[in-house]
Amino acid sequence: MTATVRISFPGTNAATLETTRGRPLATLLDGRGPIDFGCHVGVCGTCLARVKLIGAGSLTAKSEHEKALTAFYGFEEDNVRLLCLLEAVGDLEIQAV
Ligand code: FES
Repeated sequence: MTATVRISFPGTNAATLETTRGRPLATLLDGRGPIDFGCHVGVCGTCLARVKLIGAGSLTAKSEHEKALTAFYGFEEDNVRLLCLLEAVGDLEIQAV
């Protein structure tokens, strides 16, 4: 498992980012990608996005709080996540919802 992971944004002109595995996505992406961030603590819903993990690794499971908030915004799918609660655990494709 490499220490470097790639974060891409299909369907946009945003450049793919390379970073160290384990970095918080809010720290990495706020102001540097096509997804906006607000509170950084999983409350405001601004960072909702579809997340696809490519290859090895696994994202943390949705907490009950995250499930409730994503459902509140109309997204029941497991792959719609609050980016501010996730880390760069592997190569990711991220799309705004
Ligand atoms: S930035 Fe507010 S929920 Fe993620």
